Amino acid sequence: MEPLRAIELPEAVRGWLPADPALEIPDQGSSASVAFVVGAPIVVKRMRGVLESTVAEWEYRALVELAGSGLPIPTAIGLHVREHAGEREAWLCVSRLPGESLQQRLRREPDAEARRRWYAAVGEVAARIHATPIPDALRPEDSPTWFDRVLRRTRRATERVQDLVMRLVRDRPPHAPETLIHGDFTLDNVIVDGDAISGVIDWGGAGPGDPRYDVTLALSPDGDAALEPGAAAAFLGGYCAGPISKQLRRFVEQTYGVRAVG
Ligand SMILES: Nc1ncnc2c1ncn2[C@@H]1O[C@H](COP(=O)(O)OP(=O)(O)O)[C@@H](O)[C@H]1O
Ligand SMILES: [Mg+2]
Repeated sequence: MEPLRAIELPEAVRGWLPADPALEIPDQGSSASVAFVVGAPIVVKRMRGVLESTVAEWEYRALVELAGSGLPIPTAIGLHVREHAGEREAWLCVSRLPGESLQQRLRREPDAEARRRWYAAVGEVAARIHATPIPDALRPEDSPTWFDRVLRRTRRATERVQDLVMRLVRDRPPHAPETLIHGDFTLDNVIVDGDAISGVIDWGGAGPGDPRYDVTLALSPDGDAALEPGAAAAFLGGYCAGPISKQLRRFVEQTYGVRAVG
């Protein structure tokens, strides 16, 4: 992704920033161009193309709808959507959470016990998300279950994926109680500062869904590395200690074989 340059900022976006903003480029994923505003706690995110700009609009909506939820999330500052150079693009400004991503932090944390504490803390944050009432505005208009939506999308995919889809249709996994999910719950979207999680970012995939999706992404290491021993148990310990419903806790304990505490 090309780094964002200050000269590219649309007027509407400049209106939310200090005069003559300087930008600093963080480590980032591939779908958006993200920049920090130097000297102000603001993040600018540009997403190009119809699909990506729609995700940015959804992220803005999610941050607005969840603003009063008590979840640790950035504050939405503004969204600007425009046609530019023959393409639809969205500019999203949000508050910057202090610290760095948990993925970065774990890369330089050698102590196994400290690493497990981070996984437990992420589990607890996941539980808080999954215990949050789903705002009506985050329910897609046609509302089949999350699993059906994924199936519908993947039916148009390659033959190999279609084989997998057929198998999934046959061996449908047991139905999880649907909750609010983050939808892209990887450790680079968890921001940590000092010894604590300062918040969760990148909410463009949020909505009603299968909480196992967030659990799976949180426990999927980068690249080919195996998940370290104890990480899943620590995460699930934190998760089951969180405020999730009794029904979901029972489901998770059965699905993942978590031993009940006490
Ligand atoms: N609100 C924020 N507070 C702190 N850091 C952020 C924030 N938004 C983005 N970042 C940093 O920028 C990176 C990419 O931003 P993100 O919104 O996750 O975009 P992408 O869709 O590319 O993953 C994050 O992993 C994080 O390091
Ligand atoms: Mg991200």
